[in-house]
Amino acid sequence: MNVPTTPDLAGHRALIPGGTGAVGEGAVRAFLAAGAEVIVPTRTEERAQEFRSLLGETADEHLHLVVHDYTTFTGAQDLVEQVVHFRGGLDSVFAAIGGWWQGGTLAEIAESDWSGAFTELATTHMAVLRAALPHLSDAGAYTVVVGDSATWPVPRSGLVSMQQAALLMMQRVAAAESGESRRVFSLVLGPVTSRLAQGAVAAGDIGKVAVAIAAGRARSASIGLHDADEARAALAELQTGVRV
Ligand SMILES: NC(=O)c1ccc[n+]([C@@H]2O[C@H](COP(=O)([O-])OP(=O)(O)OC[C@H]3O[C@@H](n4cnc5c(N)ncnc54)[C@H](OP(=O)(O)O)[C@@H]3O)[C@@H](O)[C@H]2O)c1
Repeated sequence: MNVPTTPDLAGHRALIPGGTGAVGEGAVRAFLAAGAEVIVPTRTEERAQEFRSLLGETADEHLHLVVHDYTTFTGAQDLVEQVVHFRGGLDSVFAAIGGWWQGGTLAEIAESDWSGAFTELATTHMAVLRAALPHLSDAGAYTVVVGDSATWPVPRSGLVSMQQAALLMMQRVAAAESGESRRVFSLVLGPVTSRLAQGAVAAGDIGKVAVAIAAGRARSASIGLHDADEARAALAELQTGVRV
């Protein structure tokens, strides 16, 4: 992708829950490349160590990996309060929480499937948004990541479609409620090329779009990033204000 410039986000405090995951890694790298202070909460020490070693020298003093359970209302509230306390505020959130699930038709799912693939993930996203949004400064934005399955029924992965559709509506409601005071985005992704899989849009390009959202003044929106062309067009529009 032809990127004109990397925005300078020195001092910008970006919280990236799910940052240790396939999509989140791209955002972590992009925010670090832009000079931001990047806070990545992760639920286990083991995952924190794995991720630090994966990043190698990229994991410099601007990366703040914290072991913290952010999956409950109190956990997420505590996380955000600690970020505000220790970093002096919060500018952006990039929420790439959760992954894929495949388990059967809606008639076949067990209560444990419902809890794991719907309730727990939706609760985590809601917990992070409600804790972070009131603290978000004017300098950044809240971005939630969903897959195309949010708008397209995927047989035998229906819980993913239902949960992602709920997140998409969460972004729209938060954007409507925020008016001009906060910028709230969703990125609707196609299959992602990452350290774990080959897809149609690169995690690195998704990260660049996330940085452009944070650094720019674009209004709340839902942005489709299904392939490299869409990512290129979104980046150009966010950086120049002109739709290509
Ligand atoms: N990968 C793709 O091709 C693709 C395509 C379209 C959309 N997406 C969307 O992008 C988002 C991230 O997906 P991903 O592929 O990056 O997932 P991933 O590699 O599994 O990473 C997700 C991260 O979410 C965190 N997490 C917190 N609570 C979780 C829970 N209950 N279950 C699982 N993970 C939890 C984990 O971080 P810690 O363990 O460190 O806390 C994990 O690293 C999802 O919303 C997904 O639908 C992904």
